[in-house]
Amino acid sequence: MSERTALVLGGTGMLKGCADELVAQGWRVVLPSRRPDGALGTAAKAALRGRAHVPHATTGQGSRIAVAADWARPAELADRVREVVTGPADLLVAWVHASYREAVLRAIAPLLAPRAPVVEVHDSGAVHPVRGLPDPALDGHPTQQVVLGFTCHGDSTRWLSHEETSTGVLTAVHRALDGRPPSVHQVGEVDTWVMRH
Ligand SMILES: NC(=O)c1ccc[n+]([C@@H]2O[C@H](COP(=O)([O-])OP(=O)(O)OC[C@H]3O[C@@H](n4cnc5c(N)ncnc54)[C@H](OP(=O)(O)O)[C@@H]3O)[C@@H](O)[C@H]2O)c1
Repeated sequence: MSERTALVLGGTGMLKGCADELVAQGWRVVLPSRRPDGALGTAAKAALRGRAHVPHATTGQGSRIAVAADWARPAELADRVREVVTGPADLLVAWVHASYREAVLRAIAPLLAPRAPVVEVHDSGAVHPVRGLPDPALDGHPTQQVVLGFTCHGDSTRWLSHEETSTGVLTAVHRALDGRPPSVHQVGEVDTWVMRH
């Protein structure tokens, strides 16, 4: 079977574990970010110097392609991704700040296979007290939405760890790949009154 391609926007920070898991499962994972060397090991960082992107393959697994791009320039971001993909992408995972989300996802949309599933990741601030979550950005692409919350242990409250976040997002990714109906996933605690409305 030919290698499937996943675009993971914002996949070099707390979602790095999610991107790593997709690579381990045999995906070609394209990672646009401002500092693409954040996605790479030392040898690949050296190879990146002076280039807009660098492929980084791991024997027996999928591969990772880090691309230098900024959400503030969506058309350029899409062009940079277009340069490194060999065909339509089969999956989009998007952890993109709310102010850039629609413009970036619309720019990326032509690079997706028809009906390719999308996983949109939101922070809890994206949940409007009255309107709830924004609608998925891309019509025609079944979308799983993830809302990141916090975790409570006794009296202390903290953000989710990177591992908890990646694990929660991967659950939504697997639902998306299984063709399950679009739904909203809450990872950790989110204000339940807000989520209901
Ligand atoms: N539970 C929650 O609701 C929640 C929400 C947000 C944050 N947090 C906490 O806050 C910490 C940091 O969060 P974070 O927001 O910095 O997320 P992050 O996932 O650690 O990093 C953001 C990701 O987006 C990329 N990115 C950011 N701005 C970009 C731009 N303009 N263009 C292209 N790519 C861009 C970053 O790569 P580059 O920097 O290389 O561009 C990176 O891949 C997390 O570790 C987490 O603990 C919690």
